[in-house]
Amino acid sequence: MQLANKTCVVTGGNRGIGLELVRQLLAKNNTVIATARKPEAASDLQKLQASAGGRLSVTKLDVTSPQSIESWAAEVKALAPHVDLLVNNAGVTDGWKELGEVTAQDMLDCFTANCIGPLLVTQQLHKQGLLGGRAGSSLVANMTSKMGSIDDNGSGSDYAYRASKAGLNIVNKSLSIDLAPEGVTSVLLHPGYVRTDMTGWNGNIDTQACVKGLLAVLESDRELNGKWYAFDGKVIPW
Ligand SMILES: NC(=O)c1ccc[n+]([C@@H]2O[C@H](COP(=O)([O-])OP(=O)(O)OC[C@H]3O[C@@H](n4cnc5c(N)ncnc54)[C@H](OP(=O)(O)O)[C@@H]3O)[C@@H](O)[C@H]2O)c1
Repeated sequence: MQLANKTCVVTGGNRGIGLELVRQLLAKNNTVIATARKPEAASDLQKLQASAGGRLSVTKLDVTSPQSIESWAAEVKALAPHVDLLVNNAGVTDGWKELGEVTAQDMLDCFTANCIGPLLVTQQLHKQGLLGGRAGSSLVANMTSKMGSIDDNGSGSDYAYRASKAGLNIVNKSLSIDLAPEGVTSVLLHPGYVRTDMTGWNGNIDTQACVKGLLAVLESDRELNGKWYAFDGKVIPW
């Protein structure tokens, strides 16, 4: 899909990778519906909005709340007749707890935000008739992490985050089967090790390089449905 003059939704668009996704999608002349838990405090999005010529909407969404997701999806429906690209980007960690520290609540919190959230967001936009169908194809990109790869786990630990992203991976696989007949492609993305608040500003790349690579993957001719790619185009093992 060429990402120009499209309608794109980015969850967790107020900072980090999400904010840069919003920035680069706007620069490609797309219309963007960004989400923030606190739109009134999303100053970077507000600045972008001032120069976006009406192409950026900032909406309120908490992906851990089914009620928030349902009312937000109705708001998206009022803003746009069709969503071409949904990026389920919002995510959390438990602070990288090790064996002996991780709690049941840590596991549940990561699972609720990182696995259940993207599923319910996709489900509600689909229920609103905004994904696929007669209005055209849609691309759903779920921001997972290589830390959710079972094959790639060579260092252990990080139980809550790893399990929640592994859960998201199987959710994406089912979406890729269930929604394909309606023209919806569901792909997993690993953004790399990116310097954001989530990583304590450690990492190998900045958000600009990360998002440039992710958008190139989404715009490529490769088969995306049910697949998993890193920002540099590498295939991630399951
Ligand atoms: N950075 C990396 O190296 C890396 C690597 C692999 C995967 N990822 C994934 O990439 C995505 C973005 O990460 P990032 O590094 O940009 O993280 P970040 O800087 O911590 O940003 C996380 C974003 O998610 C939002 N969010 C958190 N909980 C939410 C909730 N309950 N409802 C709605 N929004 C919520 C945050 O909003 P608030 O401002 O309201 O908290 C923020 O906008 C995540 O899914 C992450 O797991 C990142």
